[in-house]
Amino acid sequence: MEQLYSQQAIARQTARIGAQISRDYTGQHLVLVVVLKGAMFFAADLARAISSDVEISIDFVRVSSYANATQSSGTVTFKTRLETDISGKHVMLVEDILDTGLTMRELHNYLEKQQPASLKLCTMFDKPCNRAVEITPDYCGFTLTGNDFIIGYGLDYAERYRNLNAVYRLDPEQLQH
Ligand code: PRP
Repeated sequence: MEQLYSQQAIARQTARIGAQISRDYTGQHLVLVVVLKGAMFFAADLARAISSDVEISIDFVRVSSYANATQSSGTVTFKTRLETDISGKHVMLVEDILDTGLTMRELHNYLEKQQPASLKLCTMFDKPCNRAVEITPDYCGFTLTGNDFIIGYGLDYAERYRNLNAVYRLDPEQLQH
């Protein structure tokens, strides 16, 4: 496995995004909506990189589109829904990776219906080459130029590797379709 993003590089991007969010939401309340499971690692770091000048609350949604494969199935299944009443609140969707965009689009539509004051998208990794719908993150750590299947820092392959501190390219021969 080849390392693509080190723990230090990831931490630097998290700090940068946290500082940006701190500036953009100073004095406001922001609800972080974390998309389980993958984004929990990034979200935990991001929340702590946001200044105390922003009041944060955290909630979770759980969706699944990939099962154990490396390609999106194209359908997004809601496994758990939001508990927080987000109407009139500033909301940020927090993802580990934006790939086809189908998950983000479904979640965006689901959250928009609840009439938040604002809704922004934040992802650690953006992989625009696979995009199936038009969607762009408002806050992003890294943009992947190729079509690598990446693992680590929350990202899994068949539930493995989420706990790695750095992010790696999974070798194609390790991928089973
Ligand atoms: C991954 C990732 C995003 C989604 C992105 O989740 O965490 O939620 O896929 O892909 P898309 O842009 O093509 O929709 P996954 O369904 O693998 O669940 P997980 O977070 O539990 O690993």
